[in-house]
Amino acid sequence: MTDRRKFVKLSLLSSAAVLAGNKLMGKATPASYVVPPTVKDNPIVISTWPFGKPANAAAWEVLRKGGRALDAVEAGVRVPEADPHNQSVGYGGRPDRDGRVTLDACIMDENSKCGSVACLEHIVHPISVARMVMEKTPHVMLVGDGALQFALANGLKKENLLTPKSEAEWRAWLKDHKYKPVINIENQLPGGESNHDTIGMVAMDKNGNLSGACTTSGLSYKLHGRVGDSPIIGAGLYVDNEVGAATSTGVGEEVIRIVGSHLVVELMRQGHSPEDACKQAVERIVAKSPAAAREAQVGFLALNKKGDFGGYALQKGFSYAVRNGNLNTVIESKYHYV
Ligand code: GLY
Repeated sequence: MTDRRKFVKLSLLSSAAVLAGNKLMGKATPASYVVPPTVKDNPIVISTWPFGKPANAAAWEVLRKGGRALDAVEAGVRVPEADPHNQSVGYGGRPDRDGRVTLDACIMDENSKCGSVACLEHIVHPISVARMVMEKTPHVMLVGDGALQFALANGLKKENLLTPKSEAEWRAWLKDHKYKPVINIENQLPGGESNHDTIGMVAMDKNGNLSGACTTSGLSYKLHGRVGDSPIIGAGLYVDNEVGAATSTGVGEEVIRIVGSHLVVELMRQGHSPEDACKQAVERIVAKSPAAAREAQVGFLALNKKGDFGGYALQKGFSYAVRNGNLNTVIESKYHYV
């Protein structure tokens, strides 16, 4: 089949996927509608979870006008950061066990420049602070009070991030004082709502340059000071403009142990497809910590330099949002434990 014919065929398949996604009104596209990961079009943005869809829309506004992938991913993840209904990212995030909302974020561009903040309080957009660390300092990472001081010195406003809903839930949790953070497994919270996690987003712009961003309030009711994978370059996010970009969601401790996103990019460098690279990273977690892996959720998401993308997770339930010239949908990821 010629490239042109292949492209037309794949475009039709992707339109079917978009229609199916619309019919389902925001529900993840079922596996039978999963589009071939070879549907390509520059630019492209992909991000974790169904809440990645509105985030992708903001990123797409930058990309479709020919903007830089770095600007796109920052604009994209600022959407869930500002959303009080999203209780795992930014404003409205669930607090730690002391009732403090502490945020982790990082960003990386096509020149391997990167910036990060961890355990940052009172700032709605940690991703923009991470970008300022990257662009305005000789450092990569600022944490805690230092990160807050830096954000305030750069004109950002100090705000209360604990919404009444998240505070009420935390106070209910305090009654039992069970220190068992729950992450990412669907429908485990009181009331049955989902406890999704981090937004990780990677994008390629019209010039073929890659960037990524990752931001979260981390594990609900974590120990104060706990930092997950999301602000750690190589764990929660990695970009190599020669090869591809990867990001992760889920229990950060498991991702940090295998330096997950860097591993995914290195596997792509060796020739693995994005989905296969993500699968191998998941299998590495299973091999290194089988007992913990059985109970945890981790999802990886990757994009290579050719525009192929894919994801893989430990457990059923992980999905990711894709936006390019052909696609605007949510795709259910394959997973390890069937
Ligand atoms: N992946 C988010 C966290 O573990 O904090």
